[in-house]
Amino acid sequence: MNSNFPKDFLWGGAVAAHQTEGAWNVDGKGISVADMLTSGSRKQPRKFTPEFDPTYQYPSHEAIDFYHRYEEDIALLGEMGFKVFRMSIGWTRIFPNGDESEPNQAGVEFYRKVFEALKRHNIEPLVTLSHYEMPLNLVKKYGGWANRKTVDFFLNYCKTVFTEYKGLVKYWLTFNEINILTTALGDLLAGGMISDKETPLMISFGNQASSQEAMQKRFQALHHQFIASAKAVQTAHEINPDYQVGAMIAGMVSYPYSPNPADVLKTQKNSQMGNYFCGDVMIRGEYPPFAERFFADNGIRLELAEDDLETLKNGTGDFLSFSYYATGCVTTDEELIKQSGNFLFGVPNPYLKASEWDWTIDPIGLRIFLNDVYDRYQVPVMIVENGLGAEDKVEEDGSIHDPYRIEYLRQHILAMNEAIKDGVNLIGYTTWGCIDIVSASTGEMEKRYGFIYVDKNNEGEGTLERRRKDSFYWYKKVIASNGEDLD
Ligand code: BG6
Repeated sequence: MNSNFPKDFLWGGAVAAHQTEGAWNVDGKGISVADMLTSGSRKQPRKFTPEFDPTYQYPSHEAIDFYHRYEEDIALLGEMGFKVFRMSIGWTRIFPNGDESEPNQAGVEFYRKVFEALKRHNIEPLVTLSHYEMPLNLVKKYGGWANRKTVDFFLNYCKTVFTEYKGLVKYWLTFNEINILTTALGDLLAGGMISDKETPLMISFGNQASSQEAMQKRFQALHHQFIASAKAVQTAHEINPDYQVGAMIAGMVSYPYSPNPADVLKTQKNSQMGNYFCGDVMIRGEYPPFAERFFADNGIRLELAEDDLETLKNGTGDFLSFSYYATGCVTTDEELIKQSGNFLFGVPNPYLKASEWDWTIDPIGLRIFLNDVYDRYQVPVMIVENGLGAEDKVEEDGSIHDPYRIEYLRQHILAMNEAIKDGVNLIGYTTWGCIDIVSASTGEMEKRYGFIYVDKNNEGEGTLERRRKDSFYWYKKVIASNGEDLD
């Protein structure tokens, strides 16, 4: 292929702490909300249990034991030629309860060692500060992000890591997929996952409604995250002007199911609230004009502190990043909505195939979204999650053939190349779960995204041994040729 990727393009992969590290209660780490999520499956939703219940399996407790195996894992990423590795810091390793004033030194040292190992392999860390987890204590004691006090606790944590890792980290992201708080799934995240009953986690982005009360709380929590993010950007730049701090949203891309103008309008509205609401606040530094009507229509009244709007203006992100997996369709036809039941992305698109987990495969959608966000914001863009969750089979000789994964990634890289030709300033690409990790939505181990296989099954059994898949050698070539060699 004729590669248009810039010379210094950041090729790499991504993971999150609670899906990778394990060692959930080791070396002073506190309990995070993610530690209270049980395992699940495609059919059986995960549950959040407010207390540890030994009758359940909790995948984050061991995960893939990156905590003890990071040297070996980073060496494998280095062997693939990674330029960047997206990972998150577990807040509870640094502040076990979230409201302490002094950090837990063992946690601080752990990440220092990880960053130093990355440096030895010439891999730039890209660090998410909050990836779907927060100290459980902050939720129980203060009500999580719905309480403004959480902003200060978060900033104390940010200040600590920005100071400790000066010289080791350059790229940061504040909140993973912050725009999930605009959807019903965000009802759980707003209060930090806690609800008064055990909570099934699998909720459709597209079709679920929330009560007025839940929406009020969720948008107030989101406002607090915006303020926390804007202040984190400012703090980062004060501590080190070279820091690059990005915004991160889930690319929630959908098409009108039909040319019926009512479907087109609904699609536009979904995209405004789903993608641009957060993008506008975090990159343009202000709530978009359409927010006012949305708030009025839904009876939402935000409580703002006097200088909040100025804070948002002064804390815009240096770049925009997003995750991209699948697309869906939007319809106003109630019957169709009913038929699509649990489908995660609205209603299915008859033109697209889907993965074993029913996630549609749509490389062109990635090009469309790259063009859309770049047209709108004109700041550097990074794709920080993309990939195919699939079951893999280990052959008798130990090899793992995963042509389906290679094909998925190849098509998406081709679409990225076209988007660059379209004029998009795309600076990096980190595929999701570059080493097999726990699935966030189902808690399974066997929904695998990795170039590196990890010997562990859904029941939590296995040696945790790592193995290179065919895609490992393929991605190594892609990186070495800067996207030229995709065969
Ligand atoms: C993103 C999350 O929404 O999707 C990740 O940021 C998650 O944490 C990823 O793992 C893929 O989803 P899943 O459910 O296949 O793990």
